Amino acid sequence: MNELAGKHIVLGLSGGVACYKAADLCRQLIKEGATVQVVMTEAAMQFITPVTMQALSGRPVHGSQWDAREPNNMPHINLSREADAILVAPCSADFVARLAQGRADELLSLLCLARPQERVPLLLAPAMNREMWAHPATQRNLAQVAQDGATVLAVGNGDQACGETGDGRMLEPEELLEEVIAFFTPKVLAGQKVLVTAGPTFEAIDPVRGITNHSSGKMGFAIARAAREAGAEVTLVAGPVHLATPRGVHRINVQSAQNMLEAVMQKAQRASVFIATAAVADWRPATQSEQKIKKDGSGQTPVLGFVENPDILATVAQSQHALVGDLFCVGFAAESHDLLAHATAKRQRKGVPLLVGNLGPATFGQDDNALLLVDAQGHRELPRASKRILAQQLVAEIAQRLPALQA
Ligand code: CTP
Repeated sequence: MNELAGKHIVLGLSGGVACYKAADLCRQLIKEGATVQVVMTEAAMQFITPVTMQALSGRPVHGSQWDAREPNNMPHINLSREADAILVAPCSADFVARLAQGRADELLSLLCLARPQERVPLLLAPAMNREMWAHPATQRNLAQVAQDGATVLAVGNGDQACGETGDGRMLEPEELLEEVIAFFTPKVLAGQKVLVTAGPTFEAIDPVRGITNHSSGKMGFAIARAAREAGAEVTLVAGPVHLATPRGVHRINVQSAQNMLEAVMQKAQRASVFIATAAVADWRPATQSEQKIKKDGSGQTPVLGFVENPDILATVAQSQHALVGDLFCVGFAAESHDLLAHATAKRQRKGVPLLVGNLGPATFGQDDNALLLVDAQGHRELPRASKRILAQQLVAEIAQRLPALQA
């Protein structure tokens, strides 16, 4: 999608087994439209060769401050001035210690020190053994570099190259890519607490059967990701879907509409924005059999009675928190026809300031969609695009409508 188009990233590698992941990271950054200049420490070159990194980045790798290729012989100045960000991945324990001390006796730490702090951010992706990670010296150094303005990304937890298991693995290339994209996203929802529902609900008939629908959850998950990238603290209440949780998003899995309502009501009190994308089942079986309903051989089919499920969006929109204006509620409407008329009526019926209409058959399970935004002022179309782009556009539209941000 070229989400990093126009960005120039200095990708620094310090010594660690995770250097092998930096090769893939380099590829992924370039695939998203960034240009990448690789800088490697001597230790990094023990783990992966500059040949690989040059081939992947399409640029000669820098590894020495005495490199005569630069006409002014100042690679630390030239490289750091060009960058939109410096990303050190992997960032070893030793490299963190060097940054904390402001050392400058090899090119990578030298250019980190020489960068113009106010316009060239420094992102660190630590990678080390769990004991090294947990050591007070490392934690002290990390706190110091964060205080000095670096962004320290999280570490993963799991099997380590040394055979031990724990914290300290470098994030995977795709996770780092998400972090870099998030880093560059304008923080239009900073300070907001966003609650999103997504996916279908599953209404059990008996322990092995139930009623559900074709909602994939993709739109809600894309919105949760975009809101987090825009700086919000995001909780995602998800029905049964097999989608990966967006980075940095708190996910609560639920099954039925009633489960979803309980989870939402618990979190809504603290939220400032509620976005209901879930395709909640309108009805559930009036009784849920404890045991599997069996055929009795008579040819008779079971008679199922239904009761209506609670309307989660309407319930939240009518809560005191929303009525006094502390919670901005956004509803979705999946319609099959007359989108504008139905969406307008539904906005009023649900009592929400913004309702997002879409055509059900054109969106369920798809990767793209088109949206119709309806509010008190009128309506506006967001033309067909990927759900990722629509989610980003919707987040911007919501941010514009938040009272606190308009002031
Ligand atoms: N919604 C909800 N709880 C329900 C039903 C719907 O929170 N029990 C929310 C959906 O998440 C969506 C909006 O209400 O944001 C509209 O959902 P939709 O299914 O289109 O509307 P319904 O209220 O079911 O209306 P109708 O069936 O008449 O189209």
